[in-house]
Amino acid sequence: MNPFSYRDGILHAEEVPLPQVAAAHGTPCYVYSRAALQSRFDEFRRVLAGRDALVCYAVKANSNLAILSLFARAGAGFDIVSGGELARVLAAGGDPAKVVFSGVGKTADEMREALAAGILCFNVESAAELERLNQIAGSLNRRAPVSLRVNPDVDPKTHPYIATGLKSAKFGIPFEEALPLYRRARALPHIDVHGIDCHIGSQLIDPAPAAEAAAKLLGLVDALGAEGIVLSHVDLGGGMGIRYRDEAAPTAAEYLAPLLAVLAGRRERLLFEPGRSLVGNAGVLLTRIEYLKHGGAKSFAVVDAAMNDLMRPALYDAWHDILPVTQTAGAGVEYEIVGPVCESGDFLGHARRLAVAQGDLLAVMSAGAYGMAMSSNYNTRPRAAEVIVDGSQIHLVRERERAGQLFAGERVLP
Ligand code: LLP
Repeated sequence: MNPFSYRDGILHAEEVPLPQVAAAHGTPCYVYSRAALQSRFDEFRRVLAGRDALVCYAVKANSNLAILSLFARAGAGFDIVSGGELARVLAAGGDPAKVVFSGVGKTADEMREALAAGILCFNVESAAELERLNQIAGSLNRRAPVSLRVNPDVDPKTHPYIATGLKSAKFGIPFEEALPLYRRARALPHIDVHGIDCHIGSQLIDPAPAAEAAAKLLGLVDALGAEGIVLSHVDLGGGMGIRYRDEAAPTAAEYLAPLLAVLAGRRERLLFEPGRSLVGNAGVLLTRIEYLKHGGAKSFAVVDAAMNDLMRPALYDAWHDILPVTQTAGAGVEYEIVGPVCESGDFLGHARRLAVAQGDLLAVMSAGAYGMAMSSNYNTRPRAAEVIVDGSQIHLVRERERAGQLFAGERVLP
């Protein structure tokens, strides 16, 4: 489904014309579609129907409580990477027994919090982390459920910043070291070995590397089984790509088919940790043109959203389609779409041909994932409001920050 479409020349989110959102809640504003969020999750579930599988939404992609609560109500589990994300999941009514905890740098406090909450599994990324977890669990008189995140050394063919499954990455346990570390885990008194996991990268358009990784993992599962180390789940991480520009992005069915083929007939429970694919296309960043600047070598549309609101273009040179909210006739002008932040890297798009005027609204598309979640207060810019559109209703799910909030915790010297 495409939740964002033109009606009579005006871009709508579901039934709501976007100018109505801007009038009610101002700009910049993230706008999500409830139906799109729900339908992406349902699609995953349909493809996995009939299998013992759990979809653990990767909270880092978009951690707004309303989105977490929507997925929790739909039966999702969650993939977290910090104590803060655990707190969000619990605040949103998520079930801790469906939470997996990933990340290379879990602190002792985070481990205690997760053990106290009773999470499903720690995705352990190093030998040192395993030892610490054993010790902390022991101090609480508990046993920690673990999976080892194994680095299968496959090339996911994606942006180097978001490729994680190569030997050179900081993530996971090198494939050759996994077997001895499982033996060590079995011997530790406060560790319960539950599963195995991997996550080879993000924004993968071709599922073949993920299927290759799955096959490698299963080889290891069988080798472990032969030693009496029996795993109950296999977690293949996230990574499924979406369409930003002209990518031939797979549907959940297309992406998962080769993985499920590799996993056919297996008894282990399957876990997935999709982030971007559940939320990315379900949101836009709504922004208003403050000024048009002509005359130099280039023309600029200076908008009220900036790199602090949506960092992906500046950080990854990522492409997001930028659409005028009101369509107008005319050839238009090629604009650099830039924000007010004092950095040349502050752009949302290069060389976009648009027929627009000062004061017009623009929609930066496919901004539902790693948009708000990666935003900052650089230049003391209050972060954007977030709304979820549901049919003809607009729900404010995060208030726009106010400048005073940004320095409320600061103190001047005596
Ligand atoms: N599981 C683990 C262990 C991860 O590290 C990630 C993402 C996911 C799941 C979810 O992956 P997804 O399904 O969203 O591809 N900020 C970057 C993306 C960073 C992804 C980091 N890890 C971006 O804006 O493209």
